[in-house]
Amino acid sequence: KRHVILDCDPGQDDAVAILLALASEEEINLLGITTVGGNVPLYWTESNARRICELANRPDMKVFAGASGPLMRKLVTAEWIHGKTGIDGANLPDPTMPLQEAHGVDFIVETCMAAGEGEITLCPIGPMTNIALAMMKEPQIIPKIREIVCMGGAVREMGNVTPAAEFNIYVDPHAAKVVLDAGVPFTMMPLDVTHKALVTPDRLQRFKDLNSPVGDVCGGMLDYFNRFDMTRYGFDGGPLHDPCVIAYLIDPDIFQGRRVFMDIETRSELTLGQTVADWWNIQEREPNAYVCDSLDAEAFFDLLTTRLARLK
Ligand code: BDR
Ligand code: CA
Repeated sequence: KRHVILDCDPGQDDAVAILLALASEEEINLLGITTVGGNVPLYWTESNARRICELANRPDMKVFAGASGPLMRKLVTAEWIHGKTGIDGANLPDPTMPLQEAHGVDFIVETCMAAGEGEITLCPIGPMTNIALAMMKEPQIIPKIREIVCMGGAVREMGNVTPAAEFNIYVDPHAAKVVLDAGVPFTMMPLDVTHKALVTPDRLQRFKDLNSPVGDVCGGMLDYFNRFDMTRYGFDGGPLHDPCVIAYLIDPDIFQGRRVFMDIETRSELTLGQTVADWWNIQEREPNAYVCDSLDAEAFFDLLTTRLARLK
C-alpha cells in the first residue's frame, strides 16, 4: 500500500483524480491533499479540493493550501479550459469542511520527516511548486520519498500551452527542474499518454450511468472539459490527464513507458518548460525518469468507473 500526498490544482481532471484516490483505499493511503495555484488561483483550487472531498463523503480528509504561484514567474492560469471556478460543470456548493491551518509545504515537510526512508509517494498533478519548495526548505525529506509520480510534460507529443510545453511544467519550469534533479525515482505521465485517455461520448455516458452524485458531477465536469479539446484538437473526447497518475499507483500494468534521461528547459523563451527526453538514448546518459507514453485506455476507464461506483 502506498502512503500518498496528492498535490493538485483542481481542475476537472484533478477532481476525478481525487475521487479515484479516495475510492481506492486498498492501494492508496491518502495522507492529505495539498493545493497549488495553477489551472485557477489558489482560492479556487483549495476550495475545489474540499468540495470534491465533501462530494465523496470525506470531510475528514486533510486539505491544505500551498503556494499561490510559481517560484520565479507570474502565475499563468487556464480558465479558458477549466472555466472560472476550475471545475465548471460540477455545480457544487461552497465547502463547509475546514481548510487545514498549516501551509501545504509544511505539511509535506512534516509528513515526510515523520516517515521512514522511501515511504512517501508524492503525486503532483499541477505545477510542482509545493514539492520544490518542500525540497528546498528541508532537503532531508528527499530520502523519505519512495517515488514522485506526476502528470506533466510532453515528450514526443507537442505541447498544449505553447507548441513546446505542457501546462503544468510550463507554469513552473523551475520547480519541475528542482524536483527532477533531486534524484528521487521519477515517473511521469506526459501528454503522450494522456492524449490517449480520451473521454469519448460512450465513456462519458458510463460516468453518467453511475447514477450517483459522484457520477452526475463527473458527467457535468467532463461534458464541460470535453468541449475545449474536442474543438481545438479534433479529438474524440477530452484527455483525462490527472487520473492517469492515480491509476498508475493502483495498476501500473495499464501503462507502458521507457526509462530515459530527461531535462527541463528553464531559459528559452521559445521552448520554456519543454521536457526534453533522450528517447533514443543518443547521449547514453543514466536514465533519471520513467516516462509513460501509452496506456490500455479501456482498462483505464474500466478501473475508473468501477472505482467511482463505490462512492455513494
Ligand atoms: C494538465 O494541466 C491542467 O490543465 C490539467 O489539470 C492537467 O494537470 C494538463 O496539461
Ligand atoms: Ca491538474
